[in-house]
Amino acid sequence: MKILGIESSCDETAAAVVEDGFRVLSSVVNSQIDIHAQYGGVVPEIAARSHIEVINPVIREALTRAQCSWDDIDAIAATYAPGLVGSLLVGTLAARTLAILRNKPLYTIHHVEAHVYANFITESSSSALQLPSKQPEFPLLALIVSGGHTQLVLFHGHGDYELLGQTQDDAVGEAFDKVAKILGLPYPGGPSIAAAAEHGDSEKYHLPKAKLDNPYDFSFSGLKTAVLRAVQHAVGKDFTFPSHELPKLINDVQRADFAASFQRVAVETLVERTLRAYSDFAPRSVVIAGGVAANQELRRQLSVRLPIAIEYAPMQFCTDNAAMIATLGFFHAQYGTPADPYTLDVIPSLSMVNTAWNVAKVL
Ligand code: KG4
Ligand code: ZN
Repeated sequence: MKILGIESSCDETAAAVVEDGFRVLSSVVNSQIDIHAQYGGVVPEIAARSHIEVINPVIREALTRAQCSWDDIDAIAATYAPGLVGSLLVGTLAARTLAILRNKPLYTIHHVEAHVYANFITESSSSALQLPSKQPEFPLLALIVSGGHTQLVLFHGHGDYELLGQTQDDAVGEAFDKVAKILGLPYPGGPSIAAAAEHGDSEKYHLPKAKLDNPYDFSFSGLKTAVLRAVQHAVGKDFTFPSHELPKLINDVQRADFAASFQRVAVETLVERTLRAYSDFAPRSVVIAGGVAANQELRRQLSVRLPIAIEYAPMQFCTDNAAMIATLGFFHAQYGTPADPYTLDVIPSLSMVNTAWNVAKVL
């Protein structure tokens, strides 16, 4: 069964064809990072307009690369939640129109849940990719770490999961992005902090870890503020000094040490909560998902500290893409119900635990 996936929830326009929920036949991602970098973050209006310009060519390219005609496609899966409303509308409108015109069932996909399904991809027509050797097994513990989410979710089966804990303030990716700004590192902050941290001393600055009542919850805003205060202190300024003027006052050695110290504490926090959930729930598999799952230090620490083997999705499938949407689309096609393409609406702020698919407990 071949599913066409469509993703447009933030600043990536993507389409992919995936067969049987594990074999990627094509995955096309048109990133707007260059457009938004000059503003230091995603500008929603510009994102929506850019999606409109490229959505049709991106879908066509995905079909061409997969060597598929419309007759070969069994269903369409599109992200309808969560994300920027204008961006979501472009992808879902394209999907709705195609579902009607081509007479295909349409499945609505929750973007954050789909990040977890990047780990179910075990084959790809691009042989250069290092993929997991097998699909994860249930019960499955997922650490979801993206620009908008930081959650520990326990999956009992497809479409059947519970939220163990989540961030009480900033998402971890957001913390990477904000700390990068404080240090004068380019957007997106995650990869630039990781790169700067390679040359830094991760023990140089002692930054606090948040203590919370729920052992699976997270908090990153205090850590971000602690970096700001430490930078101000290092350059001899007080908290009234404008933060956007700080990057000019620190040198490259300090920048690398701050990046490494912040990354160590942020990653240790993620790993400690995951280990706690692992020992409390004894899942058969553990996966990480979302853009921050591309972080090598997170991968290294988890591999060293988890008692079971963990396999990672390649970078291309960790950051936003449509292969993960089409992969989850396959399981919706097995166990879920198609949406009505005439009435489908986007839901910009829907938690994955409240999707109809999860609440219905389909398995
Ligand atoms: O999942 P994603 O591509 O988009 C959202 O759905 O949010 O995640 C984007 C986030 C950004 O905050 C970015 O800085 C972060 O993932 N990120 C990283 C790395 N690569 C991307 N964070 C840490 N280390 C990385 N290597
Ligand atoms: Zn994402």
